[in-house]
Amino acid sequence: MLPNVLQPSATDHVPVLADQVRESLAVRPGETVVDATFGAGGHAALLAADLQGRGKLIAIDRDPTARTYFARFEKRAGVQARLLSGDFCAVLQQLSENGVRADAILLDLGVSSMQLDRPERGFSYSVDAPLDMRMDTSQDLSARDVVNEWPERELVTIFRRYGEERFAKQIARAIVRRRKEQPFERTGELVDTIKCAIPAPARFGEGHPAKRVFQALRIAVNDELSSLEAALPAALEMLRPGGRLAVISFHSLEDRIVKRFLRERERGCTCPPDFPVCVCGHEPELRAIERRPVRPSQAEVAANPRSASARLRAAVKTGAPE
Ligand SMILES: C[S@@+](CC[C@H](N)C(=O)[O-])C[C@H]1O[C@@H](n2cnc3c(N)ncnc32)[C@H](O)[C@@H]1O
Repeated sequence: MLPNVLQPSATDHVPVLADQVRESLAVRPGETVVDATFGAGGHAALLAADLQGRGKLIAIDRDPTARTYFARFEKRAGVQARLLSGDFCAVLQQLSENGVRADAILLDLGVSSMQLDRPERGFSYSVDAPLDMRMDTSQDLSARDVVNEWPERELVTIFRRYGEERFAKQIARAIVRRRKEQPFERTGELVDTIKCAIPAPARFGEGHPAKRVFQALRIAVNDELSSLEAALPAALEMLRPGGRLAVISFHSLEDRIVKRFLRERERGCTCPPDFPVCVCGHEPELRAIERRPVRPSQAEVAANPRSASARLRAAVKTGAPE
């Protein structure tokens, strides 16, 4: 149960898998916690409460609007708190290089409800808005640039790779044809083009017809997978032995990266199986808390449909305490 002051309001992002995140991170008073995807501070509020007035919370977000939520959070956090703006991979690396150590790190990937629900941010295919999709609004590249300027074959690649879109070729071709006449400015124009490009029966199955292309564009614009790839080793580096890392992903591309990273760093000896004794001396760096990813309950999905695709993976850093 959330303390009263921390109850989310109707417009806030509802933290997903909240109890499971708390359980995995098992934050204790006096520790240093990093919420690398602060958003509206839903998870941060819970983790700060677990610090019970003693410890530090470092928040990271690349979206400048997180500052407003952080200001509200800071007043109620009851612990020392700091917000660092920027891409989590760069910020985690910098913190680590500066000798900052953490006991618990959370990455709750993707976009927040505030980003999705603000039409002017252009993340949503369900409202007509400018084609934007930048989490960091100071960044140059926007969805408008990708849709109007990237070569057709690159559009095909990202729609396939990041959206797992079956009709990638047809959609990319239709986009290029349409932009020659008039550049895309709004999400509604793109949605109409996608709808016309795919065969009629496919428009009615597998969710909204623009869902996969919008996911692909968002991942490309924000370079989400490269950030995640670079952030995981930086987070591990920053953790103290015994420190916990929890990552919530929302699609298989992210989850695959997290799973592969955890498996690699959980491996001990890497000598060929026919070696009589270990010569590599390689020790596991992580121990997974659960073998399989943790999924939301039916009750959570019913209350918060956006949690449906969430998967939580968590691990503890090995080694003797410093
Ligand atoms: C799913 S929301 C997190 C919501 C948060 N856990 C809460 O309970 O309010 C993801 C947040 O992470 C931020 N984000 C995503 N990728 C990021 C990155 N590479 N670097 C920094 N922030 C990122 C987004 O801007 C967004 O605010």
